Amino acid sequence: MTTSPAAPDEPLVRLVHVEKSFGSRRVLRDVTIDVPRGRATVIIGPSGCGKSVLLKHIVALLRPTRGEVWFDGTRIDALSESALVPFRRQIGFLFQQGALFDSMSVRENIEFPLLEHTTLSAKQRLDRVRDVLDMVGLAATLDQMPGDLSGGQRKRIALARAVILHPTLILYDEPTTGLDPIRSDVINELILKLERELGVTSIIVTHDMISAFKLADRMIMLHQGRVILQGPPETFRQSTDPLIQRFLLGEATEAELEAIRGARPRTETTA
Ligand SMILES: Nc1ncnc2c1ncn2[C@@H]1O[C@H](COP(=O)(O)OP(=O)(O)O)[C@@H](O)[C@H]1O
Ligand SMILES: [Mg+2]
Repeated sequence: MTTSPAAPDEPLVRLVHVEKSFGSRRVLRDVTIDVPRGRATVIIGPSGCGKSVLLKHIVALLRPTRGEVWFDGTRIDALSESALVPFRRQIGFLFQQGALFDSMSVRENIEFPLLEHTTLSAKQRLDRVRDVLDMVGLAATLDQMPGDLSGGQRKRIALARAVILHPTLILYDEPTTGLDPIRSDVINELILKLERELGVTSIIVTHDMISAFKLADRMIMLHQGRVILQGPPETFRQSTDPLIQRFLLGEATEAELEAIRGARPRTETTA
């Protein structure tokens, strides 16, 4: 039996001993995580360590090579595409590339999931679109085209689209990457506001430590496809593990420094 009634204090999402390989390349190694309901879990770790791959397992866009993925008391990793529809409907995903359809207006972009997943009338759809646009503070852009908006505004439109179906879980893949600090903070404030107003559970991938500590109720650090620490933010601040401390401070590791030294042209040392 793959389904059990989920108690309210059960984690919303669980990964159990998940391994993911692409060919002979192992990207996730024995990843076991719990994501509590109604809280923000932040996933950090160096570029290429498997953060986006991990997120895609939660919506079953990728399937594990080994291990289990659970959503709200149901094991989802082996479900068919059609059996996944009711689960995916509950999950808003803000992709790393925040892709809006450039040929559609803001209104059409945000309305799209409603056309796919609901039988609401045109009037009801427009009301919902206006609601979420208000929520992200961009009511005036209803009839504009994405190409006329700034990078930060486009992220906010993508966020409005991600919440239009009233998800129970929102996945954010590097929502502030490429934005200046002020625009980043606008996105962070929006993430916090959505949590408060919609009671959603959020999972945020970021390598911006200011955002991470601002948002996190829980943090998970991945390194080379393994979870090296998970817990409340204090656990990270107090950790004496040099790998974690260097990452939090944005410092290169000895191995990285060594690689750079090794790559330096010889002429410098022999001159
Ligand atoms: N579909 C795929 N096929 C093969 N390799 C992949 C695929 N997706 C990701 N990878 C590899 O998995 C590793 C982790 O990628 P990713 O999760 O995107 O890293 P990040 O932590 O920066 O988000 C990278 O080496 C990437 O090249
Ligand atoms: Mg990524």
